[in-house]
Amino acid sequence: MKTVLVIGSGIAGLSCAIECAMREMKVILVSPFPSERAQSVLAAGGINAVMSNCDPGDSIDSHIEDTLKGGRFIAGRNAVKGLCEDAPAVIDWLKNLGTVFTTEAGGNISHRAFGGQSYKRTCYCGSSTGKQIVTALVMEARRLEGKGLIKRRLWMDFHSALIKDGVCYGVLFYNEAAGDIEAIMADSVVVATGGQNALFGKTTGSTLCDGYVQGKLFMQGVELKNLEFIQYHPTTIETSQKRMLVSEAVRGEGGRLYYEENGKRIYFMEDMFGERGNLMPRDVVSRCMAGTGRDIFLDISFLGKEKILKKIPEVYELCMKYRGIDISKESIPVAPSIHFFMGGIAVNNSHETNIKNLYAIGECASIYHGANRLGGNSILAAIHGAKVAADAVAYAWEISEESDWETEIAKAKNELADLKSSESLFPVMYIRDMLAETMSANLGIVRDEGNLKKGIEDVAYYLSVVDRIRYDRSELTYYGYSLTGILTLAKAVLTCALFRKESRGAHYRSDYPEEEDSFLAATVISYDNGRFKTELDKEGKYES
Ligand code: FUM
Repeated sequence: MKTVLVIGSGIAGLSCAIECAMREMKVILVSPFPSERAQSVLAAGGINAVMSNCDPGDSIDSHIEDTLKGGRFIAGRNAVKGLCEDAPAVIDWLKNLGTVFTTEAGGNISHRAFGGQSYKRTCYCGSSTGKQIVTALVMEARRLEGKGLIKRRLWMDFHSALIKDGVCYGVLFYNEAAGDIEAIMADSVVVATGGQNALFGKTTGSTLCDGYVQGKLFMQGVELKNLEFIQYHPTTIETSQKRMLVSEAVRGEGGRLYYEENGKRIYFMEDMFGERGNLMPRDVVSRCMAGTGRDIFLDISFLGKEKILKKIPEVYELCMKYRGIDISKESIPVAPSIHFFMGGIAVNNSHETNIKNLYAIGECASIYHGANRLGGNSILAAIHGAKVAADAVAYAWEISEESDWETEIAKAKNELADLKSSESLFPVMYIRDMLAETMSANLGIVRDEGNLKKGIEDVAYYLSVVDRIRYDRSELTYYGYSLTGILTLAKAVLTCALFRKESRGAHYRSDYPEEEDSFLAATVISYDNGRFKTELDKEGKYES
């Protein structure tokens, strides 16, 4: 029986574990925290699929074209075609697993309008779609666990992959409970570890998603792609811990963005783009909001409390709970904030990386969204990608070669012991905070050569002191050893943004404000002994 190691237990990881178990593979599902804490539970608005009860004018082709256009034409057409064609089956799969979608009177799943889409095709569960889906997937995973097909391992932090001659044989983890390194070998490894929120500190996502896995794999020879494309969600509100998402569902239900001038409301998006102005793709809305230089408000009060509580109850609750705002009476003060990373581990259409037996799915992988993701396409991509990867893994060869990894394991253990052995010079968390400041200041909605170079300089400095960082508390073990990988990823993100001398989707350069045909391709970045190589994938080597 083939063994598959799935790392990460959000929607992508759970879906892949379930799909692999259904294909009679032995699954080890590993994560540092339970699914209930995964970023996926924060996903609010919905999941796109052209269902039989959608507008008769809508079609899968239209979903494909909207997705390619929203991504400014650098996502591979075949991958996007597979995604959109599979969407109705993904919804059926979720329904069968017990996901409770919002339905119309006749029982058909309801659809709402989302940004950058020609028709209403976003299926949803109120405004807590991610939470409902995670609940259903956890139930199914537990059922398969009961049957002995999935083995769940918690409190395991990724350390490094066991890679030899371009083949991945397993992964080293830091087992928090044992306080030690543990190796898990597998025929295939699927990484589903989410985005890179902690590089920026306050985002709409979870800072438990810190990009370390991407950074470390990059240093081990795995190629990354499109890192410069970072999505700012137009409507978020400030709370003490993080930026909270005010779901696009509010604008999908008719919410209007405005600023005030001389006591008068200026509906700037409608003035610029007509009646669908509030639902332009997120990169466009965020840029326009930033361009006004004003405080922006979102009004949905005209819908009335009854409809608000029916359609977007969680948004009502969130604004009331965190800001004391009754959205049936008052407007919501909103501002753009980082929400999603279109870039990540480069994978082909089977979700394989450039290392054999190593796959990536969900937000940590870069494949479907090009330069800007459409709202409602991320959960879809997480589940579709998980199914595609499960198929690929099922057909991949089993590892027969026995390798001796004792040296690798001993090296990892010694490194950890060394890190703990002396006095703290630059505390780990302080560097993480400095990194978040650097990244937020230099990778904003608008960038230019000056701030990108400054960002690279700052991160290079943090990297230069990292060897002198020590810590003395065992709960900081992961934070200590992960720092180099995180900083290396941060430098790679800034390097890609400096490399792309044009504006496209979520990457807007004030010094190169136009989209350029010469840049109509994905950015691929690789690492060789500390040196970065950045190139445009004009041949489409990841599109097969
Ligand atoms: O606004 C939202 O509800 C976010 C949805 C998404 O990112 O897909």
